Amino acid sequence: MNYLDSLFNLKDKVVVVTGACGQLGRVFCQCFFDAGCQVVGIDVNIDADSRVNGVEYLKADISNKKNVEENLASIAQKYTKIDVLFNNAGVSTFEPYEKRTEDNFDWVMGVNLKGTFFCIQAYINLFDKYKWEKGAILNTASHFGVVSPDFRNYTDCERTNSEVYGATKAGVIQMSRYFAVNLADRSIRVNVISPGGVFNPRNPQGEDFIDNYALRCPMRRMANQEEMIGAALYLASDAASYTTGQNIIIDGGVTCW
Ligand SMILES: NC(=O)c1ccc[n+]([C@@H]2O[C@H](COP(=O)([O-])OP(=O)(O)OC[C@H]3O[C@@H](n4cnc5c(N)ncnc54)[C@H](O)[C@@H]3O)[C@@H](O)[C@H]2O)c1
Repeated sequence: MNYLDSLFNLKDKVVVVTGACGQLGRVFCQCFFDAGCQVVGIDVNIDADSRVNGVEYLKADISNKKNVEENLASIAQKYTKIDVLFNNAGVSTFEPYEKRTEDNFDWVMGVNLKGTFFCIQAYINLFDKYKWEKGAILNTASHFGVVSPDFRNYTDCERTNSEVYGATKAGVIQMSRYFAVNLADRSIRVNVISPGGVFNPRNPQGEDFIDNYALRCPMRRMANQEEMIGAALYLASDAASYTTGQNIIIDGGVTCW
């Protein structure tokens, strides 16, 4: 194997992806499967149309600690290791903040922040129990964890992003730094992917929104979902062996101006 192949080699790695049946989860499951990994997808809602052939799916709610512990334990038992934990599940709520209910606020916090924590905590405990040698944690945040949404973009679209979503994503970025520092001694790297606006081919954003977004993006367009793959494979692989605590923002430059 030449040095480039071995640098990015992920063959036979066991990769767990949460939010596996969503838009980006499907793409991430597919790319790790294509890289030769054993992929286990976790989702609260296993949708038959969203399955990737060759990927094993488990139904679990990441905001439920017991659910997370049991499912990650069963994966560890079955495959004897988890090389990569990819905390990708995330939710948002779109009603105006004047009408935000406590339940909706708690739901977004519960999945995005608490759920990510439960998965990391369960993974660390399994890592110690089985004395694994090294691991990698990837967390999906968002450019809205770094900047506020630009509300001028939402002229034909009610998907106005919420304050609680941004707060949880900022929390995921900071929690990743915390664990990067704490887990360095155990040889577990922790990094973040923060997508910008990703065009959704199955459920397209409004035409005005797409145009408005393009106007305010240095690269003049939304991302294609496949443009998230490179960073995920890089951060999971040995090519990133000295990279931890970092947040790769894949937003066509939106956060640069
Ligand atoms: N698509 C974008 O434009 C975009 C931009 C920035 C960040 N993100 C982030 O990327 C990640 C993936 O987004 P997406 O666009 O694929 O979203 P999506 O809504 O298409 O998919 C999210 C998936 O998570 C699952 N899920 C929700 N709650 C869960 C729970 N409690 N336990 C387990 N699974 C649960 C859902 O069933 C769904 O399959 C999210 O964290 C999101 O915040 C997406």
